Amino acid sequence: MTIMVFDSGLGGLSILREVHAVLPAANIVYLADDAAFPYGGWEPDKLVPQIINVISDGIARYRPDLVIVACNTASTLALDELRKRFDIPFVGTVPAVKPAAEQTSSGLFSVLATQGTVKRQYTRDLIAEFADKAHVRLVGSKSLAKIAESYLTGASVDLKIVEKQIEPCFVERDGLRTDIIVLACTHYPFLINQFRKVAPWPVDWLDPAEPIARQALRLLGAKYNDVSDSANSNSSRSNDIIHFTSQNPGREAVRLVSGFGLSLA
Ligand code: DGL
Repeated sequence: MTIMVFDSGLGGLSILREVHAVLPAANIVYLADDAAFPYGGWEPDKLVPQIINVISDGIARYRPDLVIVACNTASTLALDELRKRFDIPFVGTVPAVKPAAEQTSSGLFSVLATQGTVKRQYTRDLIAEFADKAHVRLVGSKSLAKIAESYLTGASVDLKIVEKQIEPCFVERDGLRTDIIVLACTHYPFLINQFRKVAPWPVDWLDPAEPIARQALRLLGAKYNDVSDSANSNSSRSNDIIHFTSQNPGREAVRLVSGFGLSLA
């Protein structure tokens, strides 16, 4: 039983840690399109074929039972096309607008994403469908995914830059304040401590990782339960691998992913 977790870089590790918790017996292939990172600034007409090609090669090579697209920028653009092309289940990562709309008390919440994700029709449709009664602020950051990627591989974070990037998420209106910020880029949960440090007031930061892992479990259903019941279950994680499209990850990245149980493919 193999699950492929795909992202442009290392952000999908925020989804992977929940996949480990919810599906401990699955073998993991983490596919990082680091050669093309970051996806946030790519034009859609170039990014769709890029995503399709990389995932298509990954499927041909590793034959996964399910693919988690652990990237909002890719999911909001290419999920429909991927589902049309391949006959295996896909779980996407899209902005958690519906839960935010259900949970907000003030009626003001923000979606913090890449520049690509905030421009997508998919994201706008989610807001129109699920949050028509809320006031939603969409904030696209040019630099946070890169800052998170560098932070994960050992660089320090300039809190002033982080503060500037998240500042537009905080809205005050008619005596009410933003009370939820949706983390709509899988890199951002790794910066949550920095976000908390510079936030002008406390908010709930919504990370979709656990519901995504649960959706993967639901889609795999009996297929997963059979593996999990058998003696071959992979709780040691010894079969988990990571494939970098650059074929040339830095030393820090290799060290980091080994902490997630991933060896180089
Ligand atoms: N981690 C990705 C996401 O969830 C994208 C980061 C990037 O490549 O810009 O959107």
